[in-house]
Amino acid sequence: MYFELTEEQLMIKQAARDFAQNVLKPGVIDRDREMRYPYEEVKQMGELGFLGMMVSPEYGGGGMDTMSYVLAMEEISKVDSSCSVIMSVNNSLVCWGLEQFGSEEQKRKYLPDLASGKKIGAFCLSEPEAGSDATSQRTTAEDKGDYYLLNGTKNWITNGGTASIYLVMAQTDVAKGHKGINCLIVEKDMPGFIVGAKEDKLGIRASDTHTLLFNDIKVPKENRIGEDGFGFTFAMKTLSGGRIGIASQALGIAAGAYELALDYAKTRKAFGKEIAQHQAIQFKLADMATEIEAARLLIYKAAQIKDDHGNYDLASSMAKVFASEVAMKTTVEAVQIHGGYGFVKEYHVERLMRDAKITQIYEGTSEVQRIVIGRSILR
Ligand code: CAA
Repeated sequence: MYFELTEEQLMIKQAARDFAQNVLKPGVIDRDREMRYPYEEVKQMGELGFLGMMVSPEYGGGGMDTMSYVLAMEEISKVDSSCSVIMSVNNSLVCWGLEQFGSEEQKRKYLPDLASGKKIGAFCLSEPEAGSDATSQRTTAEDKGDYYLLNGTKNWITNGGTASIYLVMAQTDVAKGHKGINCLIVEKDMPGFIVGAKEDKLGIRASDTHTLLFNDIKVPKENRIGEDGFGFTFAMKTLSGGRIGIASQALGIAAGAYELALDYAKTRKAFGKEIAQHQAIQFKLADMATEIEAARLLIYKAAQIKDDHGNYDLASSMAKVFASEVAMKTTVEAVQIHGGYGFVKEYHVERLMRDAKITQIYEGTSEVQRIVIGRSILR
């Protein structure tokens, strides 16, 4: 499989790179240190079209393919994964899920604001006791005729405090197990919606991750996505595409750390020559470059299958598990190449190493990806 990028795709990649290097890079260390949400940067991402890249133009989006989205995600993640996770959740989980499975009315009502970044979306599946085991939803959506009564708690919700539109998975009929789960569109100003504690995280510290509480929220029936009981399938199908976005984030983190390590190795001298001239460092750089390229090809393959409307569940899990492990390994090596400088904030690689860890955890841990891959192989 050979991937030749079109002129348009290359322009999108360059635009994302320019934005990341010129706009995101200057403040990224301070935002990380202070856990400061990038309001102005997210606004600009919306204006540049990065928040609704794959949404059809008729709903206010860019009408781009998954490959373009992957390219932009990589470039933005090289610099600022707090921004790229906001971008990924809004694009892959919220906008894509709504456009694929929402009603015409829901799409017209919500997509234009989400695609432009006027409003931000959040995807609410994880609970205190339902992380990897996503079928065990405790949040309830009791059927009350023309509305659902929503009660429960969601954890680790990206964009939890800053979003306005929330896609919430909740159990309507416990007896039906995962077939009794619905996905409801919840608006922040609905009475009973409470934004709980903000997490103080190891990485992606400028993104806001919250606990959310739902206390007798009356959600109109027309806010349900799909048929009654479609919520779990909705979540799984949406996450499958989301994993391509997170794999691209992991790729960007790895490639960003590699670029920094390569530059550093070509300028830093030790034992009378640039450290890049020492074989010990060259071997590290060679492994980093090779593994990054392998991750990139897996991601491009998953994106291509999605753009060709094939089944990309297996490809996206393979891309995500591999790219996230490459991100972790590469960033550790990038810190090592930088020596003592790598251990301080000014050189960026310590942040990339902290950010890499979450890519092995969210949108399905590495263990969950291996479950999906294993089942697919054995089927
Ligand atoms: N598409 C459609 N249906 C799917 C599916 C898919 N990709 N994957 C599973 N299903 C269906 C199965 O066919 C099955 O349906 P039937 O009973 O009708 O056959 C049903 O879902 C249940 O599937 P399993 O029996 O495989 O369920 P399981 O409990 O054994 O395992 C799992 C499922 C893969 C582990 C799943 O629970 C999972 O993906 N867990 C991880 C959840 C996750 O990714 N959470 C991320 C939170 S969101 C986030 O992180 C966003 C953020 O903030 C960045």
